[in-house]
Order: sequence, then structure tokens, then C-alpha cells
Amino acid sequence: MKLCMIGTGYVGLVSGTCFADIGNQVICVDKNLDKIKKLKSGISPIYEPGLNELIKKNYLAKRLSFTSDIKHALNSSDIIFICVGTPTKKGSLNVDLSYVNKCCKEILKYTKNKKILVTKSTVPVGTGDVIEKILKKKRRLFTVISNPEFLREGEAIRDFRYPDRIVIGSNEKKIFKTMRRLYSPLINKGSKFFTTSRRGAELIKYASNAFLATKITFINELANLCEKSGVNIEDISLGIGSDSRIGGRFLRAGPAYGGSCFPKDTKGLVSTAKKHKINLSVVKSVIKSNSERVNLLTYRIHKILGSNLKNKRISFLGVTFKPNTDDMRDSTSLKMIPYLSKKGAIINYYDPSGEKREFKNVKNCSFKNNIKNNCFDANLIILLTEWDEFKTIDFKKIVKNKNFKVYDLRNLYNIDEMKRNKIQYYSVGRPLSN
Ligand SMILES: NC(=O)c1ccc[n+]([C@@H]2O[C@H](COP(=O)([O-])OP(=O)(O)OC[C@H]3O[C@@H](n4cnc5c(N)ncnc54)[C@H](O)[C@@H]3O)[C@@H](O)[C@H]2O)c1
Repeated sequence: MKLCMIGTGYVGLVSGTCFADIGNQVICVDKNLDKIKKLKSGISPIYEPGLNELIKKNYLAKRLSFTSDIKHALNSSDIIFICVGTPTKKGSLNVDLSYVNKCCKEILKYTKNKKILVTKSTVPVGTGDVIEKILKKKRRLFTVISNPEFLREGEAIRDFRYPDRIVIGSNEKKIFKTMRRLYSPLINKGSKFFTTSRRGAELIKYASNAFLATKITFINELANLCEKSGVNIEDISLGIGSDSRIGGRFLRAGPAYGGSCFPKDTKGLVSTAKKHKINLSVVKSVIKSNSERVNLLTYRIHKILGSNLKNKRISFLGVTFKPNTDDMRDSTSLKMIPYLSKKGAIINYYDPSGEKREFKNVKNCSFKNNIKNNCFDANLIILLTEWDEFKTIDFKKIVKNKNFKVYDLRNLYNIDEMKRNKIQYYSVGRPLSN
């Protein structure tokens, strides 16, 4: 099939490349000329394991191409996927649909032949109806459907190839057949193909993310209780997660949830519900608890290092919101590092995905190019993101400061081993006496 992906970010680029890899002809279009230039020279503008190789393979096979010319991209395709960002509007909980709306206006302006228009972007329930209104002048040319994306950064290619389910929302039943054909290589490998109304699909995406955010927040709050009551949170996760009604995933205590989806989608769901005069009090509490978690973690840093942080050397291992991605959106580090810098701490950080422009103007904050340079003079090492290369650090060997401490926000290290090595070690919801 001939596909056009509008927006070559984490979703558009990964799904476009993977669609090409299963035999489709795909044009990826982006208004960011830098991104297109990079892609044309064979470099992925985002860090995602395996993506560079897959782009090259499909580009050379002439199944995948890149352009900033939306008119050309639209008119060379039968199915158009909208994959642009849907962030939170500044100063509110509302979803900013301006990128989607702008994209639709361009589609309206340039499209000549009949198309299926698919929202892959996460959009509030009812957005498909709004899109249809924008397109009303040429309504006969378009069928607007919803196909939300569930891939996770860092595991995006695998998630695209083996999704738990493919959700298609349409008010026109005949479209399901076309979409089933498009996804048939994945369905044949066992992925569930789930059809519903367009509004249903739009809401499934928000409901999924809000539920997962709730699970994380629930276990994080229980970790606080574990710390006070001398229980190991990992026993709780295993004990409740072994119940198939609950399920073991998303029950790892850690920092606040972040990333490009959970923070904005929980807010988006609450604001959409409000427009329908529905109070989603559970999701509201999740948002509040998660935002308070960063304060709790900084309070703990003070407990570890004392109230005066002036000239204390703090080294961060990982600053992205999760491993195997370069995405910084809503990472806990964005709040923690500026706070600690304001308190006079001297911050080093190392992240395998490279230096971050977000910290360029933060006082006394430097990027180090490896674990050793990052940690050798630290008073406190904070493990924030569980990249694989952090799993086996011999802290005693690399840190010269005798009284250094480790605060492990991902429970990556073994408590007994830390004890044996006489390292002052703190983690999340795990009492030292266990
Ligand atoms: N990132 C994820 O893990 C993930 C997972 C599932 C769903 N989603 C959803 O997918 C959507 C996209 O997310 P993302 O993380 O890929 O965003 P992103 O910010 O990485 O990428 C969006 C891209 O769209 C481009 N763009 C914006 N307006 C455009 C226009 N008019 N024409 C051409 N290009 C345009 C931008 O330049 C950018 O490159 C969001 O709604 C998000 O909620 C994201």
C-alpha cells in the first residue's frame, strides 16, 4: 500500500519505517528541515535501538523516502497517518491540537484524490469529528479513522512488530477490511485486531495510558509506606503482581513517571472529561501524587546529604525518562537537576544518549562522557535511568571520594552486595535491614 506519515518523530518515523519493512511504499514528511536532511543522509534524528539500520535497509530498497514537500507526499499516497505531537497546552491541562489542526488544513489544501486519513497521534475523544469539520469542503474525499499507537520508546520496533493489539476506530465498517490488510503481517503473527467506533479508539488510548500511570503511582506510594514500615516493595510487587487480575508489569517503584505520554495524556484525559462534566477524581489524584513525588525525592536527597547542598558534588547516572531513548520530555531530571543546582550543588551527569541541551544553562551542571569521569569525585551518585551499562558498575573502583553515597531510584543494585562492599546505599521502598 502507499502510505504517508505526517510527522517523523518517535511514532511517525518508527511506524513509517516498520510499515515499509513489511512491504509498503512509505513517504515520511516533516516540516523540520533538519530532520529530513539527516534522514536523507541515512542518519536517524532520534535514538531508538535498531532504527538506523532499518531506515537504511528500507531507504536503499526504495520502499521508504523522506520529504518536506507535503503536497507531493499526500498525492503519492492512499493512506495518510497523522503522527504529529499533541502536547499539553501551556498553563492548562488541555490538549494542544494546533499541530493536528494545521496538518488537516494542509491536507485539505493539497489533496486531490480519495484518501483514508488516520490519526495515529493521541487525540481526545471527538477529535475525528473536529477533523471532519475542517475537511468538510472536500468531505467526500476523506474517510477519517483512528488508529492509536501503543509503542514504547526504547522498544519501539519490537512493539510495532508484535503489538498486543491493533486498535482501529471507524464509523465506516468497510474501512476495517483495508486496515486489516495493511496490518495482516502482524495479525498473522498473532497480534489481536480490535475494531471499534472512532471515538472508542480515541478514548482507549487515553484510558490505557491513564491506567498505566495509575499503576506506577500506586506502587510508588506503597514504596513510601514500605520505607516507613520495614517492608520490601519488591515483595509487594511480586505478591500482588502474581495475581493475574492485577498483572506484574508496571509495578516497579521508582521516580515520578515521565516521558512524552503519561504526563500529558493523564492531564488530557482529565480536561476532556471536564468538558463532558465528568470528574475523573482517580486520575486527578494520580497527577497530583506524581508531581509531589519529585519534591519527596529531593527531600530524601537532603536527608542523605544534609540541608546545605552548597558545593556538594552530585553525579547523575542517566537523565532520560527511561533507558534506550534520548527523549527528555517530562523526565524527573528536568526538575531535580535545576533544583539541586539552585541549592549550590555541583552536578555532573552522564547519559548514554549524549549531552542534553536542556541543561546547557543550568549553573554548575556538566555533561561527562563516561561513567568514571562522571562519578569519580562524587559525594552522592543518583541512579535515575536504568541503562544496561549502569548495571555492573564497580563503584569502589571508580569513585575516589571515600564517603560517597549511592541513591538508586530504580532499585537496580543488590542491597546485600552494596552492604558487603560497605557502600552507603539508598534505594526506593527497600529497607536496608532486609
Ligand atoms: N513518543 C511515544 O512514545 C508515543 C507513543 C504512542 C503515541 N504517541 C503519540 O504520537 C504523537 C506523536 O508523538 P511523537 O513522540 O512521535 O512526537 P514528536 O514530537 O517526536 O514528533 C512529531 C513530529 O511532527 C512534526 N510535525 C508537526 N507538525 C507538522 C506538520 N504540519 N507537517 C509535518 N510535520 C509536522 C514535528 O516536526 C515532529 O518531528 C503524539 O500524539 C503522542 O502522544 C507517542
